[in-house]
Amino acid sequence: MKFKLLVAVFGLVLSASTSAMAAGDAAAGEGKAAACFGCHMPDGNSVVDQFPKLAGQHEKYTVKQLSEFKSMKRKNDIMLGMAAALTDEDMADLAAYFASKTGTPAMADDSKVALGQDIYRGGNMTSGVAACMGCHGPDGAGNPAAGYPSLAGQHPAYTIAQLNAFHDGTRDNDQASMMRNITARMTKDEIEAVANYIATLK
Ligand code: HEC
Ligand code: HEC
Repeated sequence: MKFKLLVAVFGLVLSASTSAMAAGDAAAGEGKAAACFGCHMPDGNSVVDQFPKLAGQHEKYTVKQLSEFKSMKRKNDIMLGMAAALTDEDMADLAAYFASKTGTPAMADDSKVALGQDIYRGGNMTSGVAACMGCHGPDGAGNPAAGYPSLAGQHPAYTIAQLNAFHDGTRDNDQASMMRNITARMTKDEIEAVANYIATLK
């Protein structure tokens, strides 16, 4: 009787954990990531500022982006081509590989960092821009469980492009329109400033 119960409980735990997250294998991911290195670099710290850094990004967020490039919920021709042939297991392994790398700070325009810091930490009370820190954390590390990506050390050019895309609605894969609602209230100067501040975070 006791044994049967134990088997039943063990079975439940096992199926719950496998369905909740197919844990990625970073070593397997390294073998699959060669096709990514040309743009994102082997250590995930891209040098071309149009290509995002992937180093240290949370696995769950990266898997979400890859599967949404594949389904075209997030629209980008280059990444559609890269993600089209990936299986769920490939995505999990690639995400685990890049999550295991350490991010480096990016180049920032110092003249924009002070305004960027104000917005990141305090938002803009007049126009109703929420403080980025509330979701992405005081040091830009994000919140893996909630699906808030790490931003620290990202290239300003990439961050500006994404904030503009949320603002225009050309990127609309943010749950509950969180980023579209925030960027709708932001000016061009605020977007540039906060992107430069984010580049300095580590
Ligand atoms: C030819 C260059 C190129 C290659 C090769 C490439 N990428 Fe990308 N990747 C990009 C660009 C450009 C973007 C930004 C897309 C956008 O603006 O939405 C991007 C975005 C991403 C993102 C979203 C990052 C974020 O912070 O939201 C992930 C994840 C990603 N790539 C993973 C990969 C993986 C894994 C591979 C290899 C299988 C790969 N990429 C190969 C150019 C490339
Ligand atoms: C209410 C929570 C919340 C707040 C506040 C918030 N964000 Fe986000 N942000 C998100 C979520 C959720 C995503 C991921 C969307 C997705 O899954 O594609 C995101 C994604 C992003 C991305 C895309 C990252 C990438 O690698 O492509 C950037 C850039 C970003 N946020 C910047 C900001 C900035 C700057 C602020 C402050 C002005 C801010 N966020 C405030 C929730 C938030």
